[in-house]
Amino acid sequence: MKAMQATWLLGATLSLAACSENAATVTSTNEIIDVDSVALSPSPGTGRWYTESSVRQGKEVFATYCSSCHGQNAEAIPDWKTLDANGNYPPPPLNGTAHAWHHPLSVLKLVIEQGGAPMGGQMPAWGDVLTDQEIVDVIASFQSYWPDNIYAAWLERERANRAR
Ligand code: HEC
Repeated sequence: MKAMQATWLLGATLSLAACSENAATVTSTNEIIDVDSVALSPSPGTGRWYTESSVRQGKEVFATYCSSCHGQNAEAIPDWKTLDANGNYPPPPLNGTAHAWHHPLSVLKLVIEQGGAPMGGQMPAWGDVLTDQEIVDVIASFQSYWPDNIYAAWLERERANRAR
C-alpha cells in the first residue's frame, strides 16, 4: 500500500513537472521568499497582506494545480471530514470553512511544498513544481475567500507565530 502510494505520488509529480515550464514563464525568477518576513500591513486594494495582482496570479495557479482536488473556489466537497473508502481524508476546503486558517504562512507554505507525505497524507508535493512567488500567490488566492472574521483570527495567529 505504501509503495503504491509512493508510485502514485511520483507519477503525479513527474506529469506535473512537464507543465512547470509554462508556470515558470509567469515569474521569471525562482527567488526564495521568507514568508515570516512578508509585510502584514493592509494592502490598499484588498485591506489584507496580499495585493490584488497576487490574488489574480494565484487564482491561475490554483485553477491549474489545485482546483481538481480542492474545488474551483477552494470549497472542496461538503463531506470532507469523512474518511474515504481507502481510509484517507478527502481534500479539505481552503476557503476559510475548514482548518487551513489555523496555520501561519510558514506552515501553509511548507504543506504546499512538501504535500501530505510527511504526515501520511495524500496531497502531492509542489515544491519542485511551483516557484516561491507562485506559492505565495496561491496562498493569497485561497485566503481571498476567507471572511473578515476568519482572516482576523488568522492574522492574530500569524503575528503570535512571528513573535515566538
Ligand atoms: C490530488 C489532490 C490534491 C491536489 C491536486 C492538491 N491537494 Fe492540497 N490537499 C489534498 C489532501 C488530500 C489534503 C489533506 C491532507 C493530506 O491528505 O495530505 C490537502 C491539504 C492541503 C492543505 C492543508 C489544509 C489544512 O486544512 O491544513 C493545503 C494548504 C493545501 N492542501 C493546498 C493545496 C494547494 C495550494 C494545491 C495546489 C498547488 C493543492 N493543495 C493541490 C489533496 C490535494
